[in-house]
Amino acid sequence: MHTFPPLVAGNWKMNGTLASLAEVDALMEKLSGVDPACDVMICPPFTLIHPMARTLGDSRIALGGQDCHWEVSGAHTGDIAAEMIADLGGAAVIVGHSERRTDHGETDEIVRKKAAAAHRAGLVAIICIGETIDERKAGRTLEVLSTQIAGSLPEGCDAANTIIAYEPVWAIGTGLTPTTDEVAEAHAHIRKELAAKVGGEDEASRVRILYGGSVKPNNAKELMGVENVNGALVGGASLKADDFFGIISAYL
Ligand code: PGA
Repeated sequence: MHTFPPLVAGNWKMNGTLASLAEVDALMEKLSGVDPACDVMICPPFTLIHPMARTLGDSRIALGGQDCHWEVSGAHTGDIAAEMIADLGGAAVIVGHSERRTDHGETDEIVRKKAAAAHRAGLVAIICIGETIDERKAGRTLEVLSTQIAGSLPEGCDAANTIIAYEPVWAIGTGLTPTTDEVAEAHAHIRKELAAKVGGEDEASRVRILYGGSVKPNNAKELMGVENVNGALVGGASLKADDFFGIISAYL
């Protein structure tokens, strides 16, 4: 049965203009001489998907969006359909990032609809889940993850069309990271809970579960070495080719 390589995905968030394509050129240059044992993806702002696709050409770096609406088209000012991301050559879309959940009030139900839209458009849904610091302190981390998995994953998820990103909210952009034991506990729990959603333990064992939250070149190898961690979702450190390559290098 096909196993999927780990994925190191960069989430540029609301950063980058055309000038930032120079970082993509630099990253391609760095990757040209090496063969890391992982897939590489960048999820730029929507405005850069098309120009970045041109810059990337047939490079090994895949493209993704950071969000999508759940409908195919219609009167939704400012929104983007999953089909539009696919149209530009995107392979995936992040849904349910904690910044969307917080800034835009996205619930598990909305995230589920967006993930279903991604699948409808032929995109891989990168579904983000994770606890807040209050939830962790209250000992509710695993319960929160269970609830988010139950609520945010649509019917029809499998290892080919769905990736989970475990991102403790308190680790995003803070420089804080969970201990490797805490990461291992969360990822094992997610793997167990996935079985019911993807049709059994075998399929769940193949689903990539990324860790995200303050992944940097100096901690990537340790975090990527944790059991059940199948790559990283990287924010701040994905913006500079040097840093992002440093993280990808965990798989060299
Ligand atoms: P960070 O963001 O790497 O800047 O902490 C991660 C994310 O939000 O995906």
